[in-house]
Amino acid sequence: MLNTLYPAARAILFKLEAEKAHHLSMTGLRLMEQTGILSICTTPPKNKPVTLAGITFPNPVGLAAGLDKEANTIDALGRLGFGHVEVGTLTPKPQPGNDSPRLFRLPEHQALINRMGFNNPGIESGIENATSSRSFKGVIGINIGKNKDTPNAQALDDYAVAFEKAYPHADYVTANFSSPNTPGLRDLQSSETAARLLETLKAIQAKHQRYVPIALKVAPDLREDEITQLSKVFVDGGLDLLIATNTTLSREAVAGHLHAEEAGGLSGSPLTQQATEIISSFHSKMGPTVPIIGAGGIFNAEDALAKREAGASLVQLYTGFIYRGPALVHEIIEAW
Ligand SMILES: Cc1cc2nc3c(=O)[nH]c(=O)nc-3n(C[C@H](O)[C@H](O)[C@H](O)COP(=O)(O)O)c2cc1C
Repeated sequence: MLNTLYPAARAILFKLEAEKAHHLSMTGLRLMEQTGILSICTTPPKNKPVTLAGITFPNPVGLAAGLDKEANTIDALGRLGFGHVEVGTLTPKPQPGNDSPRLFRLPEHQALINRMGFNNPGIESGIENATSSRSFKGVIGINIGKNKDTPNAQALDDYAVAFEKAYPHADYVTANFSSPNTPGLRDLQSSETAARLLETLKAIQAKHQRYVPIALKVAPDLREDEITQLSKVFVDGGLDLLIATNTTLSREAVAGHLHAEEAGGLSGSPLTQQATEIISSFHSKMGPTVPIIGAGGIFNAEDALAKREAGASLVQLYTGFIYRGPALVHEIIEAW
C-alpha cells in the first residue's frame, strides 16, 4: 500500500525545503513503525539471499549511507524492504555539519546536490541508537569518517577510534574517505594513504575474535591510473568490500540548472553511467577477490542489473529511493 501512496506523499514532501522534508519523513517513518502501522501497510520483500565477505544479506538491495545518519530509523527502513542498512557517516565526536541550506533537489535531472558535511550525533550516540533496533533482521553496516576539525595528518586516528567503537556492533564497517564535503577528505584516497588506512583497520580487525568485514567507499571522480593503484592496494591489503561510488564533483550533466553551481556532491541520474564505469574498472582490475557494492544513480531494475553486469554483487540506493520510494526496492529485488 505504501508503494502506491508514495507518489502522492512525494508531491507534498517536494513542496517543502529538502532537509525539512527529510526530517519529516524520517520522523513519520519512525512513528509508523512504533505504532505498528508500517507493518500493516508494507509487504515483506522476497527472500533472495546473497553471501559475500562471509555475510549473508537477505536480498541484494541496501540503503546507502547518509540517509540514516543518526542510526535511529533502521527498523522502519528494514520494513520498506532493504536487506541491509548502512548508517552514518558517524565521526568520533558529534558535529553539526555545514550551514543550511546544504541539500538541493534538481528534479529535472532526477538528482540531488548535498554538502551536508557529516552532520551526526557522534559514534557513541549512533551506536546506542543502532543497537536499540529491534525488528530488523537484515545486515547493519556502520559507516565511519573523520571529524572536520581533525587535520588530515591525524585522520587515521579518527578512523581507528571510530572503527574500534563500531566493530562490536556492526555486521560490516565502511570507512568513508570519499565525501567531497569534508575539506581534504578525498586526498586520503592517494594510494599511499589508502594503504596506511587499510593497514590500520586490518590491525584492529586482527585483534578481535569475531571477523567484521572492512569496506572502503570510493569517489566516482577517480582517474584510471588512480583506480589501477588503488586496486593493487585493496587486493594486497586484504580489503573485504569496496563500495563504489560516493557522489560526484562533476557538473557537466546538470550545467545551466539553477542549483548546478552549488558546492557539494551530485547524486542521482547524472551519476548512473559514471558510477557503473568505475565499478567496471575496479572489477576488471581486482577480479573477484574484493566484492563490490554498487551505488550511484540507480532508478530502476535495469540500472541495478547494469551495476551487477559491471561487477557489483549488491547495490545500494539513496537518490533513486527519494524520487521513487519503496517500490524501487521491491522492483530491484524481483528483477535480481
Ligand atoms: C544527502 C546525501 C547525504 C549523503 N551522506 C553520505 C554520508 O554521510 N556518507 C556516505 O558514505 N555517503 C553519503 N552520501 C552518498 C550516498 O551514500 C551515495 O553513495 C551517493 O549518493 C550515490 O548514490 P545515489 O545516486 O543513489 O544517491 C550521501 C548522499 C546524499 C544524497
